[in-house]
Amino acid sequence: MTTDTSTPPPNTGRTTRVLTLASGSAGSGKSTLAAALAEQAAAHGQTVCVIGLDRQRDVSRLLGYDNPDADEELATLIDVIDNLCTLDEALVPGRHSKSGDPIAGLWLVLESDKLDTLSVKLAGVTAREMWLSRLLPQVLGRFDIVLIDCPGNLDLGTQGALIAATEIVGCTKSQEKEARGLTALEDKIAHLHKSFGFMGMRDGLDWIVIGEGVKGVSQGKVYFDIERQVREAYGDLVVQPTIRDDVKVPESYSASLPVTLYNPKSEAAAAYVKVGEAMNLYG
Ligand SMILES: Nc1ncnc2c1ncn2[C@@H]1O[C@H](COP(=O)(O)OP(=O)(O)O)[C@@H](O)[C@H]1O
Ligand SMILES: [Mg+2]
Repeated sequence: MTTDTSTPPPNTGRTTRVLTLASGSAGSGKSTLAAALAEQAAAHGQTVCVIGLDRQRDVSRLLGYDNPDADEELATLIDVIDNLCTLDEALVPGRHSKSGDPIAGLWLVLESDKLDTLSVKLAGVTAREMWLSRLLPQVLGRFDIVLIDCPGNLDLGTQGALIAATEIVGCTKSQEKEARGLTALEDKIAHLHKSFGFMGMRDGLDWIVIGEGVKGVSQGKVYFDIERQVREAYGDLVVQPTIRDDVKVPESYSASLPVTLYNPKSEAAAAYVKVGEAMNLYG
């Protein structure tokens, strides 16, 4: 276990799992999941690197960095894209946003609100869909887990993360819009696989996490039906348990903390811990 919180882990040649969290629609629980899984995996002694691709910067905020653009000392992924620094140089320690204490074993590459220009910046680059595959060797062999938190679209940023993944995690809710987003994501993976399968790209989803299920039928039978349909359609790919609707999640969002740190005893935190276990993230 890495306890040194001042220097990112060296290359030990270990196998690094690269998990890309994606969905075809916004608001499907990706950033909440990324922050909770990263915190829990680190708490279980794994070395974890989180790379966020969203201009909204939720996962960066949940892991301790409210507004990286406001601090000139902090490099972001956009600086890496602009060749102002390397991915390695952009690594910062994850930290508790209230106490400021570093979270042992957890590192991240920060997001910038300029990430909405990523597709434009990559437009003229040769083999632009492989942008992340070119950068990742700088962290492979150093971390047990790299978690990539995608934005809610399937633009070039997400495409690069799908191609570079060793495991693709589809995130959804028990609602029609998010369930349809899963289909859009599958179509995109199938399309990309035709061109990038030769370099080992995954040919489909490896995991599906339902990030905000209803608690009771009183909240609407339609939600249960959609959840059942997702489980029927995808079988074992769907991780147990479903994370149920829990007010502690939006509360943890306001507190800028992963829900597993904000309220470890909450139902949502307990469910995230089990999801991480089901995904074998604790070594
Ligand atoms: N289990 C849950 N219970 C209640 N609210 C949730 C739950 N999971 C996510 N949310 C809320 O849904 C919104 C979107 O979640 P987020 O993780 O940011 O999704 P994404 O990253 O896919 O856009 C947030 O406001 C979050 O607080
Ligand atoms: Mg998000």
